[in-house]
Amino acid sequence: MRKKIVAGNWKMNTLPAEGVELAKGVAAGRGEVCSCVNFIVCPPFTHISEVAKALEGSDIAIGAQDCATEAKGAYTGEIAASMIAALGCKYVILGHSERRQYYGETSETLNKKMAQAYANGLTPIYCVGENLDEREAGKHFDVVKAQIEEVVYNLTEEQFANLVIAYEPVWAIGTGKTATADQAQEIHAYIRKVLADKFGAAADDCAILYGGSCKPSNAAEIFAKEDVDGGLIGGAALKAEDFLAIGKGF
Ligand code: 13P
Repeated sequence: MRKKIVAGNWKMNTLPAEGVELAKGVAAGRGEVCSCVNFIVCPPFTHISEVAKALEGSDIAIGAQDCATEAKGAYTGEIAASMIAALGCKYVILGHSERRQYYGETSETLNKKMAQAYANGLTPIYCVGENLDEREAGKHFDVVKAQIEEVVYNLTEEQFANLVIAYEPVWAIGTGKTATADQAQEIHAYIRKVLADKFGAAADDCAILYGGSCKPSNAAEIFAKEDVDGGLIGGAALKAEDFLAIGKGF
């Protein structure tokens, strides 16, 4: 049985006190959602510690939105995987399209970040997805294949067993434009095949999340698809009620 996951990527939103309120709201309503759903919240680095305290005693896990390529040292402004693990993070989002697009992340940097995540016991949520031009040119399959081959194919079997993938078409992120449930299923099934080509039957156990304008009104239809194992939620994760309602989509 694959894990069902609803993860909230808060991006660069909320001040610490707001983040704590949001986390408390999610924890307060969590009981209304099936315990089979694994909730993860990914606050900005600056409030991970306080959010972790607010979530003590709940089953809601915490993730970071990125980590450094190096273990420690003279890398001004960077946050090491060991630091976020020490604050209680279990997950780290890596390769988000915003980091690829605005901060020049490449497969080369992502291989290093993945290694740091695993060395510190974190489960990466590795993001893949095409932009609008690539989708319109029919290149979306090739784009996600390359993003997987260049990074995920370098993992050991043991590491792969501890990986979450998020498919996030760039044209659907923050645009209100969602992939249809059929479009999501088509590419999720393809991603699973690409994973199976390297890792065999273990690909059946890998959770593949959909991200991109996922909200309470469309989550159930998307999550009903065979190869969609949950969502990586941006905007709708900033309201506890909406985030929880997405979890009810299972
Ligand atoms: P939105 O849900 O705001 O479209 O963002 C999706 C996303 O990028 C999650 O990582």
